[in-house]
Amino acid sequence: MDHRDHVGLIRAGVVGAGPRWLELGAGEGAFTLALADLLGAGGEIVAVDRNASALRRVTAELPRRFPTTRLDAVVADFRDELPTGPFDGMLAANSLHFVTDPASVLRRAAEFVRPGGRVVVVEYDADRGNPWVPHPISAHRFPAIAADAGLQNVQEIGRVPSRFLGAIYSAVAERP
Ligand SMILES: C[S@@+](CC[C@H](N)C(=O)[O-])C[C@H]1O[C@@H](n2cnc3c(N)ncnc32)[C@H](O)[C@@H]1O
Repeated sequence: MDHRDHVGLIRAGVVGAGPRWLELGAGEGAFTLALADLLGAGGEIVAVDRNASALRRVTAELPRRFPTTRLDAVVADFRDELPTGPFDGMLAANSLHFVTDPASVLRRAAEFVRPGGRVVVVEYDADRGNPWVPHPISAHRFPAIAADAGLQNVQEIGRVPSRFLGAIYSAVAERP
């Protein structure tokens, strides 16, 4: 996947939501850059990851490519502590499959999303994991997890084939 694929996967969930976003598990920032591209001038991203060296890479790269986006990188475990909102949206790309209870992470994070704000998830469309993707969340299972997290209006918004676990999809849900 390249930057165009990343942008294409999340575009429908991000456009029109508002400028301030929380990202869980930003890593080296593939989707952080896509988010910055879509938010445009005035975008603000608070990117959380427990891997400080991965966050250092996106902290160096993002201002070069999207100088009008404000990035705040926070080293933390998103199961324990989260930056407080309000946010217009929250993105979790390829990060929820590391937790055994994704609904509880989404529920806590969604508390910091404004009413009517968006929650965008990118995941492998599989229910059986492996050592690299231990707990994938299939597109079929995501609506129940979102409902358990108190979210509504789930829609699949993108999909790309993947040689690894078949496909990657994206979905958006709304904070009531
Ligand atoms: C597969 S990488 C995905 C990175 C990026 N979102 C992407 O799609 O390219 C997963 C990231 O989630 C982070 N992560 C996993 N569990 C986490 C947790 N409990 N708290 C914070 N970060 C976590 C990892 O450190 C890693 O950077």
